[in-house]
Amino acid sequence: MRIAMIGTGYVGLVSGVCFSDFGHQVVCVDKDQRKLERLRAGEVPIFEPGLDTLMARNIADGRLSFTDDLAAAVDGAEAVFIAVGTPTRRGDGHADLSYVYAAAEEIAAALTRPTVVVTKSTVPVGTNREVLRRIRAVRPDLVIDVASNPEFLREGAAIDDFMRPDRVVIGAETERARKVMAEIYRPLSLRDFPMVQTDLESAEMTKYAANAFLATKISFINEIAALCERVGADVKAVARGMGLDKRIGDKFLHAGPGYGGSCFPKDTMALARIGQDHSVPQRITETVIAVNDHTKRRMIDKLIDLCDGSFNGKRIAVLGVTFKPNTDDMREAPALTIVPALIGGGAEVRVTDPQGQREGEHLLPGVRWMANAYDAADGADLLVILTEWNEFRALDLGRLARSMNRAALADLRNIYDRQMAERSGFVAYDSVGREA
Ligand code: UDX
Repeated sequence: MRIAMIGTGYVGLVSGVCFSDFGHQVVCVDKDQRKLERLRAGEVPIFEPGLDTLMARNIADGRLSFTDDLAAAVDGAEAVFIAVGTPTRRGDGHADLSYVYAAAEEIAAALTRPTVVVTKSTVPVGTNREVLRRIRAVRPDLVIDVASNPEFLREGAAIDDFMRPDRVVIGAETERARKVMAEIYRPLSLRDFPMVQTDLESAEMTKYAANAFLATKISFINEIAALCERVGADVKAVARGMGLDKRIGDKFLHAGPGYGGSCFPKDTMALARIGQDHSVPQRITETVIAVNDHTKRRMIDKLIDLCDGSFNGKRIAVLGVTFKPNTDDMREAPALTIVPALIGGGAEVRVTDPQGQREGEHLLPGVRWMANAYDAADGADLLVILTEWNEFRALDLGRLARSMNRAALADLRNIYDRQMAERSGFVAYDSVGREA
């Protein structure tokens, strides 16, 4: 199959590289010249384990290329994927679709043969039908089909999620679109994955519903965690006891400082707006968003308590600022709420993160970047574990406590426990959902 992928952001790049690895001929299109040069040289602009090797192999084998010439990429393609950004629009919380529609119209003008135009970007219900309408308006002369093919990739595990999906969801309403989509994903069939074939609106809705449900699990357990602290229960035991019930499942029940990232905050917000537009308020999702905001702020109260009531003049070491481990992404990370509160309260903040510094230098002005946890903790009054990177999972707590001015630990990912901390010399310890 010949595939054009419009947009080389996170989703576009991972999808393009993986499709080429299936054996398809893939041309990725982007407008950013510098990015294109880097990509052609095999340089991956994001941190995603395994992506660089896979990309280099497929470039070398001649199946994957990069261009700014959309018309040339689209010419002769059997499927054109739209994987441009759909950021939250300023002011009203709606997904901004201007990039999607601009791409659709540009593609339409360039098409030379019947083609399936597939939307991979997360888009509100109705967008694919509007894409079809706009494409047909530009090209009444050609048979063009559309398909919706939402992605369910986790950052940090995107290659595996793409190659071994729990399911592939495809919204397509013509025989030809269904056939082309089945052919694109056929190389996966050896692994026997379920393909959900449905209409355009259901495919679009599936993506929002899935992400909002996962976000709901997180906000739910975070709220239970707050109650656990009051009643003397341990949220880890509660989550385990709940999760062993197969109807509930044990995933996404880790209490923490709140969810972040490029998907959950944006998609829950967009779903809430879609609900309001159709006079069917999504009350659960609206509450999930509010609970997540509250969870982040609740962490700040914990840190103030550990600093004896004030951040002023304290040195605070923060371990991890990305929204989760194995990514350099800081979008909507709890760190963006918590770290400015520390600085605003008069603390001197030292930060370490295995991948977060490049983005963090712009997003967290006023912090000092340290090489590792031990350097960050030296002389500090509080140590905060904010992201559960592997390298923070087996720290020498004794060494950290000895080097600190006042050995207090805020373990916001529940990696350690009070006993371990106190045995290692910490004089104060707090975590999430385990004790007041
Ligand atoms: C998510 C979805 O998992 C993916 O299917 C979707 O299409 C894109 O959004 P991603 O944003 O990469 O993927 O991260 P994910 O691993 O889902 O974690 C999201 C956030 O939830 C992180 O901030 C993480 O720390 C938090 N989280 C996750 C919890 O706080 N507790 C949990 O139990 C799980």
